[in-house]
Amino acid sequence: MPHLEISDLITVTDPAGGTRLPVGRAAVVRRLVESGDLRGARIVAALPVDPGGVLDPVAVDRLMVGVHTELQRLSEELRIGERLAHVLGPLFTAIRASGHAGPLRLVDVGCGLGYLVRWLAATGALGPDVELVGVDLDAALVDEADRLARDEGLACRFVHGNAFDLPEAATVFVSTGVLHHFRGPALAEFFRAQAASPALAFCHYDIAATRLAPIGAWIFHRARMRHPLGRHDGVVSALRAHDDATLMRAAAVPGIRPLLYEPRGLANPFCTTLRPVLGVRPQLEEPLRLALGRASRRLVGPERLTGTAR
Ligand SMILES: C[S@@+](CC[C@H](N)C(=O)[O-])C[C@H]1O[C@@H](n2cnc3c(N)ncnc32)[C@H](O)[C@@H]1O
Repeated sequence: MPHLEISDLITVTDPAGGTRLPVGRAAVVRRLVESGDLRGARIVAALPVDPGGVLDPVAVDRLMVGVHTELQRLSEELRIGERLAHVLGPLFTAIRASGHAGPLRLVDVGCGLGYLVRWLAATGALGPDVELVGVDLDAALVDEADRLARDEGLACRFVHGNAFDLPEAATVFVSTGVLHHFRGPALAEFFRAQAASPALAFCHYDIAATRLAPIGAWIFHRARMRHPLGRHDGVVSALRAHDDATLMRAAAVPGIRPLLYEPRGLANPFCTTLRPVLGVRPQLEEPLRLALGRASRRLVGPERLTGTAR
């Protein structure tokens, strides 16, 4: 049975322009029931609809902003900013050392409320020469991210739309908690879109697929989240996390050297909650290893990957 996240089912957007499409509640409830997820079906059945049975888009937006606001607590707790800066700092150092001319631009794909971009802007962790952009197909999340950034007076910006259709080229694509939303061929397509762009690298953090991940997610979401949808999707996310081998296969697209930081064989399953899959233009691998120093031992290519099954 497939594991389904409610948030994916109730917020359907046109990937070309980000326009929200109407969603019938009964169809979502049916899908959840058919997948054996009666609890998820009950959560959706309680959401408000119009007389035609279409989910109320305003209520859905409010709910999604609420759940992502709770999710931000998890990002703080898991020190997502520090974890990313630990790899992204050396990655930008390597890009500068490789003689890259032109602006340095980080694009956060599926930024949600923009916690990562706002954290990077607030701390200046990557240096003042890196432009910080968050992009999401969900207009309500982007609006809230933008409001928070303006409130905090941060030097970053947020764009509503498809991260791969931006008018300006990204130097590095990043994301947090997005990869597991792409299933089957869509995962390799996600990496191919980046390889086909002028970007020099990508670095995508997602839940490490360990046996402990679902129970860890249950404890965290139980402790930190109030809304049943957030708790539900948090656990399902951990169940859907891609294992190392799947990520490495999908990221092995032409023009990219795929790498995993802290793959299963090298990580403590009690500590590793999220870990990134990276892709770099081949000439960047050496400068990246140099910039990482001792930590480069934790960066492995597909030829060194072992012990990847859950
Ligand atoms: C689970 S949310 C991630 C939230 C955020 N990164 C966080 O950590 O709180 C996944 C988001 O990815 C967005 N998304 C998926 N594909 C995208 C694309 N190609 N461009 C922009 N946003 C995308 C969806 O709209 C959704 O809001």
